[in-house]
Amino acid sequence: MTDKIILPEHVGIIMDGNGRWAKKRGLPRNAGHKKGAEVFEKTSRHCRDLGIKYLTVYAFSTENWKRPKEEVDGVMNLMRSYLKSMKKAANEHIAVRFIGDKTPFDDDLKALMDEAENADVGEVITTVQIALNYGGRDEIVHAVKDIAKDIKEGKLSLDDITEDSISERLYSETPEADLIIRPSGEERLSNFLLWESAYSEFVFMDVLWPDFTNEDFDKAIEEYSRRNRRFGGI
Ligand code: IPE
Ligand code: IPE
Ligand code: MG
Repeated sequence: MTDKIILPEHVGIIMDGNGRWAKKRGLPRNAGHKKGAEVFEKTSRHCRDLGIKYLTVYAFSTENWKRPKEEVDGVMNLMRSYLKSMKKAANEHIAVRFIGDKTPFDDDLKALMDEAENADVGEVITTVQIALNYGGRDEIVHAVKDIAKDIKEGKLSLDDITEDSISERLYSETPEADLIIRPSGEERLSNFLLWESAYSEFVFMDVLWPDFTNEDFDKAIEEYSRRNRRFGGI
């Protein structure tokens, strides 16, 4: 990497292009998801090595349930294997959190998710937020419902509804994403981190997620370092 690097505190990645990667090789789509899961693990360790505080990865959207059952089951099974293998690699200084609506998941998966979130990883360098059954709109609806409940119970008044009170109720621990990377050539958010991306820098890359390397990540950080963030100021 070049020397004038500004490290973002919170990076979001839309892990896209698994299906096209598999198709190009004449493989089933789930083979692309498998390779994508390996790249995810490598990238989280890379973020830890660089000292990135938060990495949020988009693994399964609220819209992805539209896909064939076989593919959805494949993604969920990959999540199971990842969470089981994680248990053996304890103390990696990477904390795992899930963002999204956990209610529709099978009990065994929910248990694995809880275990991962409560695992002792030693001193935390990077918190990896896995967006699973996540939608930016769903996240805002969830926060609004929570506020409505507090108002109904008399714990909150109308004047207490502020940007902060909404931010505090989001699934994501951190309300700002500094940099959002989307590989695969698509240039859209697809319902990822809507609230948190108000002032994010976007880096779109042509590489498919299963081919994404640590060098690609570094290139995105270099690009981010060259940006001039103004937040509405001058
Ligand atoms: C992203 O890759 C992974 C998930 C949405 C689960 P895709 O499966 O969307 O890959 P493409 O976009 O079809 O290539
Ligand atoms: C976004 O990718 C969701 C994930 C990467 C998990 P999609 O492939 O679902 O997005 P669209 O359909 O191309 O917008
Ligand atoms: Mg896609």
